[in-house]
Amino acid sequence: MDAAHVENDLVNILFTEDQIQERVGQMAEQIAADYEGRDLLLVGVLRGAVMVMADLARALPRHVEMDWMAISSYGSGTKSSGVVRILKDLDTDITGRHVLVVDEIIDTGLTLSWLVNSLGTRGAASVEIATLLRKPEALTMPVEPRYVGWDIPNEFVVGYGLDFRERYRNLRDIGTLAPHVYS
Ligand code: PRP
Repeated sequence: MDAAHVENDLVNILFTEDQIQERVGQMAEQIAADYEGRDLLLVGVLRGAVMVMADLARALPRHVEMDWMAISSYGSGTKSSGVVRILKDLDTDITGRHVLVVDEIIDTGLTLSWLVNSLGTRGAASVEIATLLRKPEALTMPVEPRYVGWDIPNEFVVGYGLDFRERYRNLRDIGTLAPHVYS
C-alpha cells in the first residue's frame, strides 16, 4: 500500500519508495565492490528485514545466498530487559563464510549486537551488518554496521517492513507514525 492509503496515520513521509530504492541500490554497489571475488551469504533478520533483503539481494549484480534468522528480544516483556532468544536459527553452516546480516533498523542495538556476537562464535570468515536505518540517539549497545542507509531521529517509524502491532509493514514508503495511533 501507499502512504495515501494511511495518510491520517502518518505525521510525515521520511523516505519515499523511490528514495528507498535509490539508496538500497547505492548500498548494493558498495557491497558488490567490497565483496568482489568472495562468496557472500546474506542473513535477514525476520520479520522486518524481508523488504530490504528482497530489494538488496536483487540489486546485487552477482550471486548471493540468503538465509534467515528470527530473534525475540522481548523475552521478559520489554526490550530493555536485554533478553534475546533465537526463534529460528540459520539453515546454513557459516564456517568460513562471509556473512552480511541485513536488517531494516538498528534501534537500541540489542538485536544486532547480540546476533553479531553469536554468529562470531560459529567460525565465520567475517560478519558485517547492513541496515537501512539507524537511530543514533536510541543506541544503547555497541553495534558498528558497515553499511547504513540513513540515520534518523528517535521517532516511531513504520513501513517497508517496519510495523506497529504487525501493521504497516506492507507500506511502500517509510513514515513517522502519528501519536494518536499508538497512544
Ligand atoms: C526490529 C528490527 C530489528 C530490531 C531493532 O525487530 O527488525 O531487528 O527491532 O531493534 P533493536 O536495535 O532495539 O534491537 P523486532 O524485534 O521489532 O521484530 P520484527 O523484525 O519482527 O518487527
